[in-house]
Amino acid sequence: MTTTDSTGEPGYNCSYLADQHAGQLSRLRTLERVFDPLSQAFFAQLDLAGKSTILDLGAGAGSLAGWLAKRYPEATVTATDIDTRFLTDIPGIQVLTHDARTDNFPAASFDVVHVRALLCHLCEREDILTRVATWVRPGGWLVIEDVSLQPSLRTEHPLFLKVAQAGITLLKRSIGSDMLWADTLPSRLHDLGLSNVGHRTLEGRIGDNSPADTFWAATTAQAGPALLEQGLLTQNELDAMVSLRADPKFTDTALTLVSAWGQVPYLDRKA
Ligand SMILES: C[S@@+](CC[C@H](N)C(=O)[O-])C[C@H]1O[C@@H](n2cnc3c(N)ncnc32)[C@H](O)[C@@H]1O
Repeated sequence: MTTTDSTGEPGYNCSYLADQHAGQLSRLRTLERVFDPLSQAFFAQLDLAGKSTILDLGAGAGSLAGWLAKRYPEATVTATDIDTRFLTDIPGIQVLTHDARTDNFPAASFDVVHVRALLCHLCEREDILTRVATWVRPGGWLVIEDVSLQPSLRTEHPLFLKVAQAGITLLKRSIGSDMLWADTLPSRLHDLGLSNVGHRTLEGRIGDNSPADTFWAATTAQAGPALLEQGLLTQNELDAMVSLRADPKFTDTALTLVSAWGQVPYLDRKA
């Protein structure tokens, strides 16, 4: 199994979470069911005048980009991804193959830049966050949303704790993900000099048949072969986790979804 990209570095797009994986589209749909309500709650409060420009960076299977095109019918919605195979047949969006690690947009290109469930997975997250802020026009909004697995590390259930730690280690080793980074988002947006910074956090549980539970199970199942190959878990432990999750007496907090936003000031931030 390849876990490094052409540069020899770990990378999302050649990992067990990449889009070429057979279960990926259905896993992305489970992610969308968890995350879309949280993302839409931000945009529900945001009125954009006329011909605005919106970027959804690393748009995945594109449910939010499609929703944005309907919510703002006069806006230009650009959906980018390093792998655009799922961004087809979505009315009203422009699709662009774009590597967030290396490709740029001119300064002040967009009224809104939205990035969801991407930066936690890219080693270059700090640099990308700084660059994407420059793509937003003065007065426009930067919206960053990501997943934190911090709650799973507080579980009192030993098997769930072991599976959670194994998942975090695998993500770090094979992709370079930092699954605790999302917790720092509000302070990072402040540090960038954005104004009107706000945030909202949604708790995702497992064992309760919620959308978060389905997303967690789909991701853990997709990680299964890599967890075994790297000796992080045994098949017995994976099987026991499936049984635990199905136990009606078991439910626990597995993750949080952190949504953070801020507005690029009209004044020169260096002034
Ligand atoms: C976990 S999915 C999230 C998709 C979407 N943002 C969402 O929340 O529904 C991460 C997405 O980032 C894309 N991706 C990974 N590395 C990327 C990169 N370097 N530049 C742009 N997109 C990338 C993947 O192809 C995948 O579609």
